[in-house]
Amino acid sequence: MITNTELEQKGNLFPSKIVNFKKDVDRLYFTTDNDVVLQLTVVRDSVLRFRYTTTGNFEKDFSYAITKYASSGYNKLVIEEDEDTYIVTTSKLICKISKENLEVSLYDAIDNVLINQEEAGFHWEESYQYGGNIVKMSKISQDGESYYGLGDKPVHLNLKGKRYENWVTDSYAYGKDTDPIYKAIPFYTALCNKKAYGIFFDNSFRTFFDFAHERRNVTSFWAHGGEMNYYFIYGPQLSDVVESYTDLTGKPHQLPPLWALGFHQCKWSYYPESKVKEITSTFRKLQIPCDAIYLDIDYMDGFRCFTWNKEYFPDPKRMVKELADDGFKTVAIIDPGIKIDKEYSVFQEALENDYFCKRADGPYMKGKVWPGECYFPDFTNPEVRDWWSGLYRELIEEIGVRGVWNDMNEPAVMEVPNKTFPDDVRHDYDGNPCSHRKAHNIYGMQMARATYQGLKKFIYPKRPFVITRSAYSGTQRYTSTWTGDNVATWEHLWIANIQTQRLAMSGYSFSGSDIGGFAEQPQGELFTRWIQLGVFHPFCRVHSSGDHGNQEPWAFDEDVTDIVRKFIELRYQLLPYLYTAFWHHVDEGRPILKSLVLFDQDDVHTHYRTDEFIYGDQILVCPVLEPNAKGRRMYVPRGNWYNFWTNEVIKGGKEMWVDADIDSMPIFVKEGAIIPKYPVQQYVDEKQIDQVTLDVYYKQGKEDSTLFDDAHDGYDYTKGRYSLRTFKFSGKPNEVIIQQHKEGKYSTGYEDFNFVFHGLPFKINKIQIDNVNIPLKNLKVNGSNSISIDKNFTHLHLIG
Ligand code: GLC
Repeated sequence: MITNTELEQKGNLFPSKIVNFKKDVDRLYFTTDNDVVLQLTVVRDSVLRFRYTTTGNFEKDFSYAITKYASSGYNKLVIEEDEDTYIVTTSKLICKISKENLEVSLYDAIDNVLINQEEAGFHWEESYQYGGNIVKMSKISQDGESYYGLGDKPVHLNLKGKRYENWVTDSYAYGKDTDPIYKAIPFYTALCNKKAYGIFFDNSFRTFFDFAHERRNVTSFWAHGGEMNYYFIYGPQLSDVVESYTDLTGKPHQLPPLWALGFHQCKWSYYPESKVKEITSTFRKLQIPCDAIYLDIDYMDGFRCFTWNKEYFPDPKRMVKELADDGFKTVAIIDPGIKIDKEYSVFQEALENDYFCKRADGPYMKGKVWPGECYFPDFTNPEVRDWWSGLYRELIEEIGVRGVWNDMNEPAVMEVPNKTFPDDVRHDYDGNPCSHRKAHNIYGMQMARATYQGLKKFIYPKRPFVITRSAYSGTQRYTSTWTGDNVATWEHLWIANIQTQRLAMSGYSFSGSDIGGFAEQPQGELFTRWIQLGVFHPFCRVHSSGDHGNQEPWAFDEDVTDIVRKFIELRYQLLPYLYTAFWHHVDEGRPILKSLVLFDQDDVHTHYRTDEFIYGDQILVCPVLEPNAKGRRMYVPRGNWYNFWTNEVIKGGKEMWVDADIDSMPIFVKEGAIIPKYPVQQYVDEKQIDQVTLDVYYKQGKEDSTLFDDAHDGYDYTKGRYSLRTFKFSGKPNEVIIQQHKEGKYSTGYEDFNFVFHGLPFKINKIQIDNVNIPLKNLKVNGSNSISIDKNFTHLHLIG
């Protein structure tokens, strides 16, 4: 192991011994001989914040990532000291701080087991080039420790042995292992000895993470500026770590409108209007469900944001209305670059109000994007965000566009080597003026935030829907996201699967990939396999660059169209299940997709799995990622699972072959689960839903399931007008009991549940509903194991 002396020889400086300790409610200050101060904040019993300064004084505390709604408060805080250490104890954690050198070690407060220990700990290097410090932290990586998280990295789920960088970057046709790409989410989780913790390094400068790459037993992270400022989040369950991080950086501010969970069709670009209509009417003609149609940059007049090309779209309001009448919601793209054009009102206004970013010496930041030379609004200025949000009035309120797609917001600049602004560009950073080095990673986030505010205002009382390409931690509060310009290759199908799982583990569940691949053209087989995966992603959109042929569900052969239809229909059937998972996400921060390690961290076989994941809480999915496959090997996690297609029950905890010809894919349902389904619709709320199907997967034992519903849009659910049903399943060899608990004031449109029982080991001889015997002949028995029952039952008892 490298010694501190060797690190010192490399120009690193270290804290010396503690000479002062001060406590200010939940904040503890440890000051060293050489003016280093560690400010330790007890955020919650399981969340500690570590903040260091090397000058004796802290900068103003400001973060774009942390939400004002984050939970705080602890049950216990005891501070003790012995000869060598300060010992801070909460009900979950014991934190020891060495008096000698400020080094920190963390233990589980219940069993005293070491969770994480510093190696060199906090150290820094002075940066003469920029001023300030390069701040560093190194910790010991234990044998068998695994690492996850970091947003959209297109690499193996387990990050161990690798080094990564966070600097949001326009990455056309990136590949496996390309780093960095579009997002900067400086949060990772670690799992060792069945205990999981997370580290969120809230520093928007260029950050680096080394997971036992340079040195086998050391994990470190550092930043090219700013403070060493990180949150230590303890589990011990990985799922709790992810939920705590999401609590800290924010859950989505509201549920998406349900239509946003439908299928979306996009291309660069559908124009003119007749082309858009041809696409949407083909969906309806072929009876392939679809809710959203996208307008890429060509709808604009010369790529000027907030304008229309009147030749292609002579009457956008009428078109958007006609599309809406046919169930299509229109989503339009908006980029940050504003064309330098004295005749263009958006440009004029921003110039007059001094809203554009400037270089350090005064001139405006000029860069080329689609419209040619542009200036760029400084979205880190609240006044600029306010102005930007106001620009959406016409698009949303008048024209009726329902969603906005923010792109190129890294910000991407063309024909320059670093693909973005130079470092010296100045930003307001909400009243904390700084250079682009600090603002780069949050620029796109602030643009998306301003867009979100505009939509929220003008679409009210409906809910906003925004998509962003660039993101920093916390962006999930405002908008959904996609994984950028991928490629139509099998490897990218693997990447898409990894990225969405990784984003979900990084607090960002509402994500998806460009289905089929953005660059190049997929074969029908690849497109089909990608659709099969994509229908299980919270955001489900086909998009392509358009210069390599068509990518609509009918662009291949008829077999492809039929299989694609079947899977999109499955997505629409499972909408109540996805919406419920989304509700859990918004309410508790629970990720919508769960990698196997998140589902069962105690099973070491899950630590290196990448392909299989849990959709919601109870459906196991594994995409087929290779051509010519008739199935695949996959790992089925512990527990019993029903094959979705055949109802065969599999005992998990093993790797196995699963048949999956091109018209199928491995899907399993957890035993005991009750899965809600809608009938197929061509778009959300096309039909009045009279009955919700509840697929019940028999188990000998107990399992809880939930079903959330509300008006599918609007904010009434925040005032209690929602319906949350919990179904408590309990199965014995010759009986089944399902108890229902209801919460909320919303009365759903449907009256009945159609129960479909799978794997029932007995023939139903007797049924009691709410303790009353119901003669079998009085029930609508729809099939051998299917019955319709009034939705308001509280106790359903089947006896064999
Ligand atoms: C960028 C986006 C892509 C979009 C294109 C044109 O490459 O990532 O999705 O279609 O710009 O706007």
